[in-house]
Amino acid sequence: MIGCAVAYELTRRGAEVVLLDMRQPGAGATQASAGMLTPYLEGESSALLQLGVAGLARYAPFVEALREASGRVVEYRREGSVEVALSDGEAEALQSRAAYYAAIGVPHRFVAGDEAHALDPSLPSAVRAALLLPDHGYVGVHSLAGALLAVAEREGARVAVGARVERVTTEGAVTRVHTDREVLDADVVVVASGSWLGHATIDGVTSEAVRPVRGQLLQLSMSHAPTSRVLWGRACYLVPWTDGTLLVGATVEEAGFDEHATAAGVSGLLSAAFSLLPAARTARFDSVRVGLRPATKDHLPIIGRSSVAPGVVYATGHYRSGILLAPLTAEIVAGLVLDGDASPHLEHTRPGRFGL
Ligand code: GLY
Repeated sequence: MIGCAVAYELTRRGAEVVLLDMRQPGAGATQASAGMLTPYLEGESSALLQLGVAGLARYAPFVEALREASGRVVEYRREGSVEVALSDGEAEALQSRAAYYAAIGVPHRFVAGDEAHALDPSLPSAVRAALLLPDHGYVGVHSLAGALLAVAEREGARVAVGARVERVTTEGAVTRVHTDREVLDADVVVVASGSWLGHATIDGVTSEAVRPVRGQLLQLSMSHAPTSRVLWGRACYLVPWTDGTLLVGATVEEAGFDEHATAAGVSGLLSAAFSLLPAARTARFDSVRVGLRPATKDHLPIIGRSSVAPGVVYATGHYRSGILLAPLTAEIVAGLVLDGDASPHLEHTRPGRFGL
């Protein structure tokens, strides 16, 4: 997603772009993403929360411009998320989170007991408490990636599907990309390789700054959408599309580059989904998808100019927030590459903190 968004933004702003992807664009971590736009649930540090909130603020204009430029349907809804407490302990924790949101000025509504079920009748009757965050939402990831790519190609980007980047080298004023099939010279190379950062050398260096964290995601379908909100529980989250598609995510596993689904992963997600949304028991099981989240040690992305290779800009390591941060990342990278603009967000994402 990051590569597609950056290619889209750069081509729209007049740059000549070649997008190199060892798979189809969107077939990495993106294909197993549920497209949640939920920074207050996943912003585990204040820096990540700041980035996530800025990322969320970019979404509506970004999708609107993309819909117009592509003429395509991109599902995008901002009807909120509901975090669900199914035990007294979880309800207490949720109440503390509500107090925290109140303190930092985040719009929210906390309800307990019968009111929680009334807030969203798709929840189980035993629900103890619920916390509504109305700013949250989700985006249809495949339609988003497809539209970004279509516009980028129409604006002149060349997309090299199946091209494996082996090394990037600095050759005087140009930066050279060596793939398994061609050698390309560029003014700037944007590295958006997700978990596979360490699979190409950059000026002879192999980086271990990003590691893969496996996520399994289920796709179910129901005759109609049981709710319009993202549901978030202790052991899973649910994203209900308007057409009845129900995404259930996700495992968080250290499994190296193994992209297989597991019986335990599927069964754990299913039982967590049933406890959050009883109606999911009758859903049709469509598929399980697996993606590798690109995680850095501090869980913040790596965005910005390389501190070592002058023609390299990083846009990787987005861990759980690649979709949320794609428009913001594209804006930051295009500003940096084309205008030399240094966004204040770069303070949190400097490649130099990992020696990159
Ligand atoms: N952002 C959702 C996940 O990483 O599972």
